[in-house]
Formats: sequence, C-alpha cells, structure tokens
Amino acid sequence: MSPRTDRAAWLHDPAATCNPAPDSRTRPWRLVLLGPPGVGKGTQAELLGEHLGACHLSTGDALRAAKCLPADQRSAALSDALQYISRGKLAPDSTVLAMVRERSRCLSCQGGFLLDGFPRTVTQAEALLGMLRDLGVTLDGVIDYHLRLDEIVTRLAGRRTCASCKAVYHVASRPPRVDGQCDQCGAALSQRDDDRPEAITVRMEAYARSTAPLTGYFRDQGLLLTVSADGSPDTIFQRTLQTLTSRQDLT
Ligand code: AP5
Repeated sequence: MSPRTDRAAWLHDPAATCNPAPDSRTRPWRLVLLGPPGVGKGTQAELLGEHLGACHLSTGDALRAAKCLPADQRSAALSDALQYISRGKLAPDSTVLAMVRERSRCLSCQGGFLLDGFPRTVTQAEALLGMLRDLGVTLDGVIDYHLRLDEIVTRLAGRRTCASCKAVYHVASRPPRVDGQCDQCGAALSQRDDDRPEAITVRMEAYARSTAPLTGYFRDQGLLLTVSADGSPDTIFQRTLQTLTSRQDLT
C-alpha cells in the first residue's frame, strides 16, 4: 500500500512538490472516474489510490481549495466559477481547462493518476485527450460508476468532508472515529454547500445534460469500463479491481 501524498501540486500550487513524492511505478495507472454526483467516485479514488499508488486528482477539490485563497489571489474567472459551483451548476469549460492545463505536470506524474470529476463535458474530454497526446501519456480506461437515484441522494445527504485534507465520510455508512473530526488530520468535518437539496437537483440535471453523453464518447474510444456502485465501498473497490484486471494485469 502506498502512503497518501498531500497532492500539493494539484490542490495548492502547480509548482509545489508533493509530500511524500509519488513512487515511480513500473506500471503507472492513468484512469478517469466517471459517474453522477454522489455515486462514490471520491471514495473509490481514495481506495484505488492507496492500492495502485496513483494520485487522486479531483477538479472539485481543486476548485474548493481555490475558494480558501484570499480574494486578491483568485482570478476573476475563478471567483465567477465558485459562484456557479455553490448553486450546483458546472463551472465554465474555459476556467476548468485553464486550471487543469496549469496542473498538467500531474497528468504525466510517474505515479499515475485517478481523475475524478474531469472531464465533465465533451469539450473537456477532447481537451484532455489532446493534453495527454501532447504529454506522450496514454489513458488506461474510464470507469463509469452507476447507481439508483434514491441511493445517490442518501449518500449525498449524509456526506461530511474534511476542509483540510479533503477526506470524505458519511454519517451512517462511513462515520469518523470521533464525531465531527477527521480521522486522518483531526480537522473539523463539514457539509458541502452543494449538498443542499436544491443544489443536488441542479447537479443531477447538469450531469444528465452535459456529462452523461461522455459514456458514449469514451465507449467509441474503446475506453469505457462500466462498474456497479451498489454495495459497500470495499465491495465496489474489489469489483473495480476485477474490472481493471480483466483489462490488464495489475502490477
Ligand atoms: P465534485 O467535487 O467533482 O462533485 P461531484 O461529481 O458532484 O461528485 P461528488 O464529490 O459529489 O460525489 P462522489 O461521486 O465523489 O461521491 P463521494 O465519494 O463523495 O464537483 C463539485 C462541483 O464542482 C460540480 O458540481 C461543479 O460545479 C464543479 N466542477 C468540478 N469539476 C468540474 C468540471 N470538470 N467542469 C465543470 N465544473 C466542475 O461519496 C458521496 C457520499 O457517499 C460520501 O458521504 C461517502 O462516504 C458515501 N459513500 C461512498 N460510497 C459509498 C457506499 N458504497 N455506500 C454507502 N455510502 C457511500
């Protein structure tokens, strides 16, 4: 099992060095995790990251980290994007692509990556494949998680997140050891702005309209791996590994 890096280069400063530095892998995994809000992508990214050594690159986490910057260190476009996010709408492609391009070093990292929440539109998917081509990096697959809507809403309503290290909990299915406190870094847990019922509805609509078409896009590229997100986090993790093993031997 690999130690978790602090993802400094992704979350805070593209020029930063992550601590610990990701291991150089003979077989770095480069995957996209796709699926509706609350299906469990972040939870699986943590489990897969520990097992495969690949870094969890969430655009949602990077955007939320930018929210903590002083206003004079945020671009106007970024401040604008943060308004969209709190209402449950997608941030503009141009802002998200600028943010990912700034962090493209993470895409060619020797440890591999697990992209979570990016791409979310066909424009972003085309840009990602272009960036990877330019970096000489190959995408291994796109894991598409699916789950019933009522279960998704239950997962989102009970989610609690660590503002500091971004670890994710659930009040019923994945509670922290100490109520309201992160197991990993001890910081306070809170509910995300966009987990309010009205924002959840907007996020589901944005997913159906803009992101769901990506399944067809990646299927046509021969990259789509469909996985059921029903069951416990560990059951889904094992199911995901089986799906990856059927595609290629894990090293
Ligand atoms: P983002 O942070 O990416 O949110 P999301 O896609 O809506 O996904 P979530 O983080 O809500 O859910 P998840 O699937 O990771 O589930 P989790 O593991 O936390 O994006 C937020 C916003 O930023 C977007 O709405 C948009 O505005 C903007 N944005 C980001 N990227 C963008 C882009 N590329 N373009 C434009 N805008 C962008 O699990 C959910 C809960 O369920 C947790 O409490 C967890 O503990 C629990 N849980 C997980 N698995 C299980 C299980 N198996 N059983 C029971 N409970 C479980």
